[in-house]
Amino acid sequence: MADYMPEPYRIKMVEPLKVTTREERESSIREAHYNLFGLRSDDVFIDMLTDSGTGAMSDRQWAGMMLGDESYAGSRSYYRLMEVCHDLFGWQYFQPVHQGRAAEKVLFPNLLKPGQISISNMHFDTTTGHVMLCGAQAVDCVVPEALDTAAYHPFKGNMDNSRLVELIEQYGRDRVGMIVITVTCNSAGGQPVSLANMQETASIARRYDIPLVIDAARFAENAFFIKEREQGQGDRSIREIVRDMFSQADAFTMSAKKDAIVNMGGIVAVREDEQLIEGIRRIVVPNEGFLSYGGLAGRDLEALAIGLEEGVEESFLRSYTGQTRYLTERLTNIGVPCQQPAGGHAVFIDARKILPHVPFDRFPAHSFCVEVYREAGIRGCDVGSFILDPDPVTGKQPQALMEFARYCIPRRTYTQAHLDYVASSMSRVMEKAGAIRGFRVVRQAKILRHFTAELEPYA
Ligand SMILES: Cc1ncc(COP(=O)(O)O)c(C=O)c1O
Repeated sequence: MADYMPEPYRIKMVEPLKVTTREERESSIREAHYNLFGLRSDDVFIDMLTDSGTGAMSDRQWAGMMLGDESYAGSRSYYRLMEVCHDLFGWQYFQPVHQGRAAEKVLFPNLLKPGQISISNMHFDTTTGHVMLCGAQAVDCVVPEALDTAAYHPFKGNMDNSRLVELIEQYGRDRVGMIVITVTCNSAGGQPVSLANMQETASIARRYDIPLVIDAARFAENAFFIKEREQGQGDRSIREIVRDMFSQADAFTMSAKKDAIVNMGGIVAVREDEQLIEGIRRIVVPNEGFLSYGGLAGRDLEALAIGLEEGVEESFLRSYTGQTRYLTERLTNIGVPCQQPAGGHAVFIDARKILPHVPFDRFPAHSFCVEVYREAGIRGCDVGSFILDPDPVTGKQPQALMEFARYCIPRRTYTQAHLDYVASSMSRVMEKAGAIRGFRVVRQAKILRHFTAELEPYA
């Protein structure tokens, strides 16, 4: 087995976890109508539902919270955050907001008109939602290698740039409101985008004069993978690579709940376009609050400024991405098929291969996750057909390109022993896979149904 960097921190405060029995878990999941979002967190032993806002803040961040300036306007903590952002990204305008989707909400109406399209390597689901709220359509354009989970490719999050050009030509330049590069590409398995690929996308965007936006939720992990995997980048610092990644885009949205290691927060930024930042500010004030706090408390701004700096530390990134690699490797060794190579924030398990007898409309990835919860109290989630809403006109269930069971690793939260427990529990589930029959939805909302849907198991 490869060497893994030990955690470059030690534990100073602990949060006890409840150990549950199988009978208790059976009853909890039944009461939750077989929806993992319906579980109480107290009934979960290891919570790998998301890496978003679930990381552990450092002693410096907690100390920073005590220093947060809660002034309504012109808070000292706001200026501290601005300084860190300028230093890290080198751009002109940064606006705090309460989380990533708020950044999308205040930026996209400035770029998208009804009837237009947004092209991305892969839009995250809230990103698609906000594109649609502008009356536009989201079109994904990731490289085909992303769809073959067994094939090794160092940058499975890359934009398929020749298809990007085809799409622009097909729709016509005026119908493309923006191009979005999501780093890392969450929906493809936390897979990185290479610097060369980003530069090529940027030159296409420039050639057609289309605004280029970065969805920067996991920008630091992406920079780390560029350093690790891209030719000629190995000797450069994470900060240098971050500067290059952002040098050619026009705007970015960031959910700071991931790589900036805070429990709540977001940023929207504009490289230099004064008119664009003015448009954003006009939406921020009535929705998120005054510009110098943008939906956050002063203490949150302080923690965010510190978290941004800690999130780009190379030793942290080596250890954190090493946890994902470790779990992926352990699972692969016991025959659990995972997206290869390991990505940044989560292990993505190819449920279609584990449950070939469960059709997509019985939700194989969701079924696997429910069984893992029953077995061991570990919570993951479906990133497959279950998270796709039925067609609003025909009511038909769309089929996802990939049926992933996603197990996220919250930052600085779990130890290697937790990951070993995850691997051994999944190995027991693999032995019972033939008996898993899938689920039917019995109650659901029209939009983003997976959060609240109620399901029943097939007998
Ligand atoms: C790539 C990506 N973009 C945007 C978002 C939305 O961020 P938030 O949950 O902070 O609104 C997420 C959240 O998981 C994400 O993974």
